[in-house]
Amino acid sequence: MIKKAVLPVAGLGTRFLPATKASPKEMLPIIDKPLIQYAVEEALKAGIEEFLFITGKHKRAIEDHFDKAYELEERLKNSGKYELLNKINCFENLNFVYIRQKEPKGLGDAILCAKPFVRDEAFVVILSDDLIDPEYSVLNEMIKIYEEKKAPVIALEEVPISEVSRYGIVSGKKLNNYYIIDDLVEKPDLASAPSQLAIIGRYILTPQIFKYLENLSPGKSGEIQLTDALKLLLKETPIYGYVIEKGKRYDAGEKFGYLKTIVEFALKDKEISSDFIKFLQEKIQTFISNNKKSF
Ligand code: UTP
Repeated sequence: MIKKAVLPVAGLGTRFLPATKASPKEMLPIIDKPLIQYAVEEALKAGIEEFLFITGKHKRAIEDHFDKAYELEERLKNSGKYELLNKINCFENLNFVYIRQKEPKGLGDAILCAKPFVRDEAFVVILSDDLIDPEYSVLNEMIKIYEEKKAPVIALEEVPISEVSRYGIVSGKKLNNYYIIDDLVEKPDLASAPSQLAIIGRYILTPQIFKYLENLSPGKSGEIQLTDALKLLLKETPIYGYVIEKGKRYDAGEKFGYLKTIVEFALKDKEISSDFIKFLQEKIQTFISNNKKSF
């Protein structure tokens, strides 16, 4: 059984500057919950019991978010706001560990920081800016494949050809509900992309990955790339890919994707969806009638 999750949160979040100058990208809210909370809730549903956050500068807000907030809790209790109280104190008994990545040298380097926590167990990696529909458990499906194969499993999604250079891209052979991966390349240009199957921010890794990460030189964008270490790992073990259902992953790590995520979640939110739909209809109608020539 997989019980440990690693959540790298030490990146600079440059695509959201200036919002991320002094506060973490992973704390950006989708309606009323930060991205990182969705990630923790997803892991809990998949049976994860121990959480390691790879943090960096300006990431204290993440620790505070999952910590006890004595004063606030007292105030909510005294004013009888028990529903809100339950929303903020539900993580206090979980097993959270924080390790600092000294410099944001890339996702591969962040994962290497997890070595002392992971020891000899397989573990899940969750990148919280890839938000998965909370109704859909991709991790459970990946864990099933891991349990059958006892080898790394990575989440995949078919992306438009115009987007391949933003992702790690794999090629492989499809068998049943998974792929056997035969190549991986980080952010290829259009001409050299082996397919349109992109690596999404969910991985099940084994401790074998660390020896490759330890000896890795910087790759694309001058960063230590997890994809490069996975490519080397392929010589030692098969790696499996699980393609997630279309429309179940939201790319909240860049501005347009973030905006789309908020709209999708607002449309599903019982409390605000009907007002939000009315608002959107009015806005769109007004916009179209004011810009008739372009439509
Ligand atoms: P991203 O590339 O999406 O995040 O990394 P980023 O680097 O913070 O954002 P941009 O590209 O500058 O806008 C995916 C995840 O890996 C973490 C990030 O915090 C994010 O959750 N990460 C990335 C690290 O923990 N350390 C790193 O050195 C790089």
